[in-house]
Amino acid sequence: MQTLTVALGDRSYPIHIGVGLIHKTQLIAANLPQKKVAVITNATIAPLYLATLTSALKSGGIEVVSIVLPDGEAYKNWETLNRIFDALLTNRCERKTTLIALGGGVIGDLTGFAAAVYLRGVPYIQVPTTLLALVDSAVGGKTAINHPLGKNMVGAFYQPRAVIADTETLNTLPERELAAGIAETIKYGLIRDPEFFVWLEKNIARLLACEPDALAYAVERSCRNKAEIVALDEHEHGVRTLLNLGHTFGHAIEAGLGYGTWLHGEAVAAGMVLAAELSQQMGLISRQDVTRVTALLARAKLPVSAPELGVERYLDLMGHDKKVEGGKVRFVLLKSIGEAFVTDLVPDAALRDILVRRTVNA
Ligand code: NAD
Ligand code: GLY
Repeated sequence: MQTLTVALGDRSYPIHIGVGLIHKTQLIAANLPQKKVAVITNATIAPLYLATLTSALKSGGIEVVSIVLPDGEAYKNWETLNRIFDALLTNRCERKTTLIALGGGVIGDLTGFAAAVYLRGVPYIQVPTTLLALVDSAVGGKTAINHPLGKNMVGAFYQPRAVIADTETLNTLPERELAAGIAETIKYGLIRDPEFFVWLEKNIARLLACEPDALAYAVERSCRNKAEIVALDEHEHGVRTLLNLGHTFGHAIEAGLGYGTWLHGEAVAAGMVLAAELSQQMGLISRQDVTRVTALLARAKLPVSAPELGVERYLDLMGHDKKVEGGKVRFVLLKSIGEAFVTDLVPDAALRDILVRRTVNA
């Protein structure tokens, strides 16, 4: 097992990465202020991992309330959040009861938001089970639900007490979901870690084959990047914004097609291609760099062409992005592979041109 730390003073917490960690009760027990937890998961993950986790916890003398939600991005909303509150109240969960998110980014974001507001804040622990959640969403304390007008529009920054990243859970993950997680690892390479980008170019087939060594390395390196960024800029006033590479376009794709039609990682992949194209159009990176980005994403079995939603529809959806400041959309663009920056100085003509030429009829 490897342990990294997200360094946030007295709110610092460990990220434990390893094989079979959901059996290791002490990793969770060490972080509980009370011997009672509520495990929040969904109907797909429950038959795979809920019994294992709950029996491990119960054998450690911990009372467990299980809350099983419907599966899907379409359920990351107020109604589902309220179902969590109903269950917590019905089961008399208290301020010291710890919520445990057992699942992917949807369960993690919902559970984290529930923890941030239930009884004005209760502890929570992330037990991610998708690659995307292991390398990104379980770390850093962004919690949210979607709104029909925009992705992740209602939420809070609220850090977990621990992240227990059991890479063994990835053995049951469908291929499409694995690829979606790889999109976020490629993002770290693009924004700040060019050596990791080269490593991914060399090892992408090993990752797709779920080779344990390759997965462990990619998860550890991604979490290290994310932990460093979050420690520098927890509330996204600066460097954390770079983690949104491809997301301005990607969130527009997700909302425009209807949540759940494209996976988040897929929309981010196509969004990163648009960001690379825009960067090249503005004279920042070379055509060869755009080709390298596109080729790696394609080899990871990710979409590299964004869907044609119509230019006005894209602009409208992107106008709801959380990075909008003073009514201006801000973009994360590339200076090179491994260096990104944020700007609101994107010529309208260049943006429109990309949205016309680089989107395809889905
Ligand atoms: P997800 O949570 O919908 O999980 C993907 C699918 O895999 C689901 O059907 C799920 O039930 C299933 N699944 C999960 N674990 C499994 C396993 N081990 N075996 C088999 N099936 C399994 O999707 P995701 O890609 O994990 O997360 C996407 C969400 O994360 C989006 O809502 C996105 O906005 C959010 N996100 C949040 C952050 C953040 O910083 N908070 C960062 C990135 C993404
Ligand atoms: N996934 C973007 C962030 O955590 O900031």
